[in-house]
Amino acid sequence: MKIGVFSCKPYDREFLSARNNNFGFELEFLDCSLNIETVELARPFDAVSVFVNDVIDESVLKTLKSFDIHHVALRCAGFNNIDLEQARKLGIGVSRVPSYSAESVAEHTVAIILALNRKLIKASSRVLDNNFELDGLLGFNLRCKTVGIVGTGAIGKRLVDILTGFGCRILCCDPIPSEDISAMGHQYVSLDKLIKESDVISLHCPLNADSQHMIDHAAVQNMKVQVMIINTSRGGLVNTQAIVSGLKSGKIGYLGLDVYEMESELSNTDLVCETISDDTYQRLATFPNVLITVHQGFFTVESLQQSAATTLKNLQYYFAGKVCDETFLL
Ligand code: NAI
Repeated sequence: MKIGVFSCKPYDREFLSARNNNFGFELEFLDCSLNIETVELARPFDAVSVFVNDVIDESVLKTLKSFDIHHVALRCAGFNNIDLEQARKLGIGVSRVPSYSAESVAEHTVAIILALNRKLIKASSRVLDNNFELDGLLGFNLRCKTVGIVGTGAIGKRLVDILTGFGCRILCCDPIPSEDISAMGHQYVSLDKLIKESDVISLHCPLNADSQHMIDHAAVQNMKVQVMIINTSRGGLVNTQAIVSGLKSGKIGYLGLDVYEMESELSNTDLVCETISDDTYQRLATFPNVLITVHQGFFTVESLQQSAATTLKNLQYYFAGKVCDETFLL
């Protein structure tokens, strides 16, 4: 079976090729993302595999169907970039890798919290300049601080585990509360209460019509002064303009982003010699209390191994006419 692997980076090629020894698919690796402009490239394949910034909308799905392609294997957990309703109507199956990177993203989240709090980036660049002053590097202890975790699925839960070790007071918000977390003595509260009481707010829920811009101007208004906001989930969960206003007014004390609303235009590209035309991004990048990483939360050896194994297993199941409840959305 011939699989078109879109948005393929050298590391995808390495991990998928190694794992494919057990599966024997004919994998064709394409650098470009799958969208309406590139969909013609999918014509020769029996199925396609895509990542976070491919745009699998109605027209792409209809074109895939016209090529007799009936399965899209996402190599990620989030599925906001695919029109599931249309896929269902067209009879196109969709699989994903639900929890390949829970530890990686949770640990990256903690890395961002600590780097922001202890001003590690500023400290490092000072030391490189032979400046050993402490002024401006003051942090705070995480112990006894209130951390609000929005979404307690695989990643949120792992983060709760880690922050329990730090001695934080943890507030959670999720339409489907986890008994494990309640059993640990942590409390589920409304998003409103979480926003009002948290010193650190970390987002770990999917992006969908309900959650889009859950952090908007009103939410920022209700936050504690000098709140820390971390988003390692999907950029569209926060209204970037509201965040910029909050940073300008001093309401937001720290911002850590591994994802950004308009990241598909920047994602995984070296623009070192280019002019970035996204003014909102440019403004965000000027604040000294903002740390932006490159959608790398998932990017560990263990996650890539797991993602390759699950993606290929999903394709094997699809071609065998089977469905795996855990990993098949359709
Ligand atoms: P998951 O599906 O295990 O958990 C998501 C949780 O969010 C569920 O418990 C669900 O009930 C809850 N939820 C849904 N809507 C909500 C809402 N409006 N408010 C609060 N909670 C809500 O997903 P997982 O694996 O924990 O991933 C979470 C998100 O992290 C993914 O949707 C994806 O967007 C992002 N992600 C980011 C990565 C990165 O590299 N930065 C890598 C992998 C995932």
